[in-house]
Amino acid sequence: MSNHSDLERDLAAQIAGAADLDQLDQLRVAALGKAGVISALLRSLGQMSAEARKTEGPQINGLRDRIGAAIAARKAELEEAALEAELAAGALDLSLPAPPRRKGQVHPTLQVMDEMIAIFAEMGFGVAEGPDIEDDFHNFTALNFPPRHPAREMHDTFFLKPGPDGERRLLRTHTSPIQVRVMRRANVAVGAPQFAVFQDPPIRIVGPGRVYRCDSDATHTPMFHQMEGLVIDRDIHMGHLKWTLDAFCRRFFEAENVVTRFRPHHFPFTEPSAEMDVQCDRSAAQIKIGEGSDWLEILGGGMVHPNILRTCGLDPDEWQGFAFGMGVDRLAALKYGMPDLRDSFTADVRWLTHYGFSAFADPNPASGLS
Ligand code: PHE
Repeated sequence: MSNHSDLERDLAAQIAGAADLDQLDQLRVAALGKAGVISALLRSLGQMSAEARKTEGPQINGLRDRIGAAIAARKAELEEAALEAELAAGALDLSLPAPPRRKGQVHPTLQVMDEMIAIFAEMGFGVAEGPDIEDDFHNFTALNFPPRHPAREMHDTFFLKPGPDGERRLLRTHTSPIQVRVMRRANVAVGAPQFAVFQDPPIRIVGPGRVYRCDSDATHTPMFHQMEGLVIDRDIHMGHLKWTLDAFCRRFFEAENVVTRFRPHHFPFTEPSAEMDVQCDRSAAQIKIGEGSDWLEILGGGMVHPNILRTCGLDPDEWQGFAFGMGVDRLAALKYGMPDLRDSFTADVRWLTHYGFSAFADPNPASGLS
């Protein structure tokens, strides 16, 4: 009966003393490789009597397992030591600048839309959207524009060819059709089922989107962005509208001293209607909010006209509401000091690099707005 304890002690001592991974691997081959000593012992089991195998088998197998484990343990130690040595030698230069990468920027208009949504979300507003290609009904008729009334032309509408159903299509001239899509009970989403956004009152939504008007000069572009707001509830009045907009402006411009004023105005879909201006100083190149003697119009709003509620299947004696429509590009220009609104649409990379935002600057109530 052989006892392998000498062999085991020997191998264990050599493994513990292995100076590097190469040396350890040589030991592994010498012990467990094809021609290794332990492999030879394992092979010898085949020639033994059944009796001898019974006692030798577990011993030799145990030896193989223990030596295998010792090699693995020493290997981990040596690898760890090699990494430590490499770090100590400073071979890994963490101060080396990473290779430059081309990266895109978030357009300030989209960033500002996200900021606005974050602010209204804090006040409990949800988000609703509508299609860019609208029908006459949602853009005009349901919003109380009488048929062939000049108010329809007031918006310099881009009309499209009628669809197969003969309905006149157009590029929406404002985000107000979103109001109709949210309120209307028999919500017929024309050609765009994803915009069936009907909600039961009470309603509190903002509706961001692109709008189009056939108009182009220093202060107008044929496409721009608006954000609609709609609140429908019981006992809603103009004071709620004014408070909401004032609170929004203070938060958006990050200034307590924002001064606003309401001017009477006319929209077919609100009564009474108003436009809101913010006080600012435009004497220097950079516009300053909260000081100076200039006023800049930033939105239209008012109390939802009872006719709109009726068209949407709501009883005006039970439900009232306010609505507003903000110019997003204009708010972006005001907040971030852009001298010319048109630059926002020219896709000039220098401009975008200057005014754009990192994709990580995600505005939300927790991380801050900008
Ligand atoms: N839709 C109007 C516009 O584009 C703005 C507005 C929205 C006014 C909601 C009142 C209520 O000028």
